[in-house]
Amino acid sequence: MDYPDICIAGAGIIGLSLALELHRQGSRVTVLDQGEPLSEASWAAAGMLAADDPDNPQELYPLSVLSRSLYPGFINRLFDLGGVAVPFHTSTTLQEVNPDRAENTRGLTLLAPEPLSLLLPQLHAEPHRFVLLDEHSVNPRELAQALLAAVRATGIDLRSHTPIRMVRSRSGGIEVHTSSEILTPSRFVDCTGAWGLTAMPPGQVRTMPRKGQMLAVELPRSFPLHLVVRTHSIYIVPRTTGAHAGRAVIGATVEDAGFDKTVYPSEIARLRARATELLPALADAVEVETWAGLRPSSSDGLPLLGQVSERHFIAAGHYRNGILLAPATAVVMAQLLAGQKPQVDLSRFSPMRRG
Ligand code: GLY
Repeated sequence: MDYPDICIAGAGIIGLSLALELHRQGSRVTVLDQGEPLSEASWAAAGMLAADDPDNPQELYPLSVLSRSLYPGFINRLFDLGGVAVPFHTSTTLQEVNPDRAENTRGLTLLAPEPLSLLLPQLHAEPHRFVLLDEHSVNPRELAQALLAAVRATGIDLRSHTPIRMVRSRSGGIEVHTSSEILTPSRFVDCTGAWGLTAMPPGQVRTMPRKGQMLAVELPRSFPLHLVVRTHSIYIVPRTTGAHAGRAVIGATVEDAGFDKTVYPSEIARLRARATELLPALADAVEVETWAGLRPSSSDGLPLLGQVSERHFIAAGHYRNGILLAPATAVVMAQLLAGQKPQVDLSRFSPMRRG
């Protein structure tokens, strides 16, 4: 049998972006997913490439900046391979900041907020609490379509509905057991996100789901929003082109609810109320969709990127920034798998840390 060089568990945006990068470098790659590719957190996300979000952990910044710089090349490559374009929907974010936390507002421009302030009462009342960021957003569902088309255009062996029963090291290799076969790649990468296939010893950092409920509304015609509005507790992300142009995504709750993806009307109403407080023009916006996703969080809020044993690696736990961090994660993990020094220091993200 013809075995892959590298077997990846999890066909979310992290697993598939890594598969593409490894394939580009000449590896034979197999990706196994217990369900459908890109159908969980990668599909549920809002799509903000929020490298400068002051609420992100500082430790993420170098990886975030690298990923932001890789994004145009990443989506061009998806288009070249699979023929599906991924437009940027916005290029600016109006961000609430805490002026007392100056260290978290690097690179931001304080705003002279007219005429937007007429639409945002809070901005009008407290302009010093908002800054404009150069930040792009994508529609993760368009990204998923493009990524899947790109992967399918390569020789990557992508298998849906193929749960992994067991992964174990053996002399000179590693075994990946499914219900119907045992693969023996030279290396294995766990990209299963919240599902955490890799058993971590007690006290060591681990991944876990963190639920986010969200909704989408049809924006009033009199209020064409072309930028993201984000506070510490809510974001409003407009889709400005394609089939969903004129909609805005409003999110999100942050809940420890295990793997439950129930959407509760009371939580959706709370999100709507907060969004309307910020942008009163949303009061009459028609609700078109509600959903919940499971963010791949970790016990200390940082991703797990690195080696668990000689042939077993992990890239998971990107929490609120998986869409942003996918291209850089693919590059640094491919470097690690090739035995090279990753271009971003990954020591803070070691899966062997306590957490
Ligand atoms: N990245 C958006 C969220 O986690 O809700």
